[in-house]
Amino acid sequence: MAEGRRADMVLIAFMQAQNCTNYPGSWRHPQGIPDFLSAEHYVRIARTLEEGKFHLAFFDDRLAMPDIFGNDHRLAVQWGIRSVKMDPVPLMTAMGLATTRLGIGGTCTTTYFEPFDVARTFMTLDHMIGGRAAWNVVTSMNDSEARNMGVAEHPDHDLRYDRADEFVEIVLGHWQSWEDDALVVDTRPGGVFAQPDKVHRLDYRGRWYNSRGPFTVPRSPQGQPVIIQAGQSGRGIRFAARWGELVFASYKTLPQARALYRTLKDAVAAAGRNPDLVRIAPPVYPIVGETRAIAEEKRAFADSLARPEDALALLGEVLNIDFAQYGLDDPIGEAVLANMTGQHAIRDRVVQVSGKSNPTPRDFIDVSRRGTIHEAPVFCGTPADVADQMEEWYQGEACDGFVVAATHRPGGYEEFARLVVPELQRRGVFQKEYRGRTLRENLGLPPCVARGRPTMRH
Ligand SMILES: Cc1cc2nc3c(=O)[nH]c(=O)nc-3n(C[C@H](O)[C@H](O)[C@H](O)COP(=O)(O)O)c2cc1C
Repeated sequence: MAEGRRADMVLIAFMQAQNCTNYPGSWRHPQGIPDFLSAEHYVRIARTLEEGKFHLAFFDDRLAMPDIFGNDHRLAVQWGIRSVKMDPVPLMTAMGLATTRLGIGGTCTTTYFEPFDVARTFMTLDHMIGGRAAWNVVTSMNDSEARNMGVAEHPDHDLRYDRADEFVEIVLGHWQSWEDDALVVDTRPGGVFAQPDKVHRLDYRGRWYNSRGPFTVPRSPQGQPVIIQAGQSGRGIRFAARWGELVFASYKTLPQARALYRTLKDAVAAAGRNPDLVRIAPPVYPIVGETRAIAEEKRAFADSLARPEDALALLGEVLNIDFAQYGLDDPIGEAVLANMTGQHAIRDRVVQVSGKSNPTPRDFIDVSRRGTIHEAPVFCGTPADVADQMEEWYQGEACDGFVVAATHRPGGYEEFARLVVPELQRRGVFQKEYRGRTLRENLGLPPCVARGRPTMRH
C-alpha cells in the first residue's frame, strides 16, 4: 500500500456476555469452548485481543431473551438463541484487570436505568481498570425488556432518543462535576481531602429525569469513559452525532458503507463537533484460513450451524413484533410497520431493498439475513485476502475501523489475531504498539478536561 491512511485503523472485538457470539449458531461450533459462564473464558479472550493490539473489547447487551416469537421463550432456550445474558460489567471488570492497555466497553440502556446509577457504574469501572472504559449508549429494543424491568410497553423509538438526550446530559454532567484537581488527599494534620469549591451539584431538572448530585466518584485517569453509540435511523443518527466518540454502523456493501459513513460524518459536523475525532466502525465477520480453500471450508461449516428458527426469533427481538402471527409470505400491513418500536434502521432497509411497501417475513429474513453470519459483511480468505477487503473499506472512506465479530469463541478472535493482525501491521495500517495507557489516548482522542461545567464538544 503506497498511499492512504497509516496505522490508524481502529479494531474492536464484538463480544457478548452470553452462550454464543452474535452468531446464534456459534455455540454449536465444535471448536468453541463452552465455558462461557466462567471468568476464564473472557479473560483468555482479553489477553488474546491485547496481544493483537485491539483498541477495544466491546459487549452488547439486552435485558431479555428473544422470546417475542410466539410469545414463548422455549425456542430461544432450546436452541440457545442468545438465551443467556449476563450483566456485562463484572465480565468487563475481569477482562480489564487481566490486561493493561486493551479498552473495555459495554452496553447499558438509557430506557430502563437511572442516569446517576449508570454514571457511577461506568466511572467506577473506569477507575478500576485505569482509564480504559467505554459506555455504549443504547435505548433498548422490545417489550420483553420492558416487562422484565416492570414496564408494560417499550416506549416509542424517537421518544426513547429524546429521553436518552437528557439521560446522557446527566451522565456527562455528573462525570464532569468533579474538577480535575478537586481531589487533594493531603494527609498532613489539617490537610483537606478534596476542595469543596471544585465539587459541584448538577441540579439537573429535565422533562423526564432529575438528578441533583454531587456525584460520588472523582475523575478517572482518562477523565471519563468514552461514549459509544450506534444510532442509524434519522433520529438515531442525530443522537449518535451529538454524543458518540466511537460510532458503530451496520452496512452490507461498500457503496452503502461509503454513503452512511459520509452521512454520519456530516451529521457530526452539523452537531458542531470535529468529524475527524469521531471514529466509525461497522461489524464484520472475518473468516481466515491458511489457504482460500481452507477459509471457504470454514465459512461453509460456520454457515451450516445456523438453524431456521434463529432468524425470526432474532428479527422479532430487534423489531419488537411477533412474526409467528404471519405466514412466511403474508404482507405486513402499514400500521404494523409504522408501529414497530424496535430498530427502525432494519425495517427501513427491508422496505427499501425489497422494493415493497408491505414486505413479508420472508423479505425480512432474506434482506436482513439475521441469525446468520451474513448479517454483516463476511471477509473470507487468506490473511492477505481478508486484509485486502479491510483495506478497501478503510482506504475507501467507508469506515475508520471494524467491529470484529466471531464465528465461534474464543477461536474466531484467536485466528484473527494470529493471522490477520500481523498482515495489517505489515501493511502499515494498524498499530504495532499501543499509543498510551488510556482508551482515549489509544483512540487518539484529546484529553477530556472537567471544569465543573458539563461540555462535550471536541
Ligand atoms: C455493532 C452494534 C452493536 C449494537 N449493540 C446494541 C446493544 O447491545 N443493545 C441494543 O439495544 N442495541 C444495540 N445496537 C443497536 C443500536 O443501538 C441501534 O438501535 C441500531 O443501530 C438501529 O438504529 P436506530 O436505533 O436509530 O433505529 C447495536 C448496533 C450495532 C451496529
